Amino acid sequence: MIRQTKDGGTDIFETEIDGETIQWDNGLTYARHIQTQQLLSAQVPVSDKPDEMLFIIMHQTMELWIKLVLHEARLVVGAIRADRLDLAGKGLDRIATIQRHMIHSWEVLATLTPHDFLTFRGFLRRASGFQSQQYRELEYLLGNKRGDMMVVHKEDAAAMARLRAAFESPSLYDELLQLLARRGFDIPADHLSRDWTQPYEPSEAVEKAWLAVYTDVERHWDLYTLAEKVTALEYYFQEWRFKHMKTVARVIGHKPGTGGSSGVNYLVKALNLSFFPELWSMRTEMVAPREGGDYAQGAGA
Ligand code: HEM
Repeated sequence: MIRQTKDGGTDIFETEIDGETIQWDNGLTYARHIQTQQLLSAQVPVSDKPDEMLFIIMHQTMELWIKLVLHEARLVVGAIRADRLDLAGKGLDRIATIQRHMIHSWEVLATLTPHDFLTFRGFLRRASGFQSQQYRELEYLLGNKRGDMMVVHKEDAAAMARLRAAFESPSLYDELLQLLARRGFDIPADHLSRDWTQPYEPSEAVEKAWLAVYTDVERHWDLYTLAEKVTALEYYFQEWRFKHMKTVARVIGHKPGTGGSSGVNYLVKALNLSFFPELWSMRTEMVAPREGGDYAQGAGA
């Protein structure tokens, strides 16, 4: 039996199912909130081949996670700017969890065999992940300022506006260097104010600053833990790139991509990119902490 009441203009319904009182109303339903109709009508194959559905849903789920990573990364940048390192750390932890999930999800696509893919590859024409606007926006936000990559969006004014905004703004790493400067580290002036559209040039002074943070971790605990979370972001980003490259090699071998590149060889090149170079190079320079010195607990050897 369904009981019906009213709350203002909203009809409220109630019934018992399996001993539970189940309620719903005709205002904000699950479908209206989650927009399931739009979401589930967005899988539109261009072929009649059954394996294309997997291909579409894999890309769509990745795009949704990239959307969330972008959202969280912008909040992280805002938190760093506001010196709220606690909030920035929380956001970076969430990003890392999403990234691990994204990396693991390549396993689903790995069930697409070369034969499966070839049944519909021709229908994709020149469509390629290379044209993912969000991926490029994320790269710009993190610091890979390759302006020429935008060209494939030139017919889409809204996409270009978003990409340009990210391209012309300081990256997450640029914000971190501002933070180091506010904390009294010696960051070169040309790293604090520059043309943000230019690729980042690593500097010895920045490497020294990170080294100082990592050498006296007790003193710089918040910067040190933040730097580790930022390092994790790049670590997982590279792992995502690697799994993509390896999945592509498994599915198309060394064929060129639908987007026109050399395919796997193009994707391998990206494995040498670094968003936060001194956070990596500094590790080579590190030495063991002094006995009973920098690490109060005497850790490390
Ligand atoms: C069987 C599945 C896939 C194949 C064969 C494939 C293949 C490729 C190839 C060959 C490229 C290089 C550009 C080109 O010439 O097309 C590329 C780029 C790219 N793909 Fe995929 N891909 C697959 C799945 C995915 C998925 C699920 C995503 C998730 C969004 C994705 C995102 C990207 C991105 C973002 C790029 C640009 C990378 C960069 O410029 O560094 N790909 N893909």
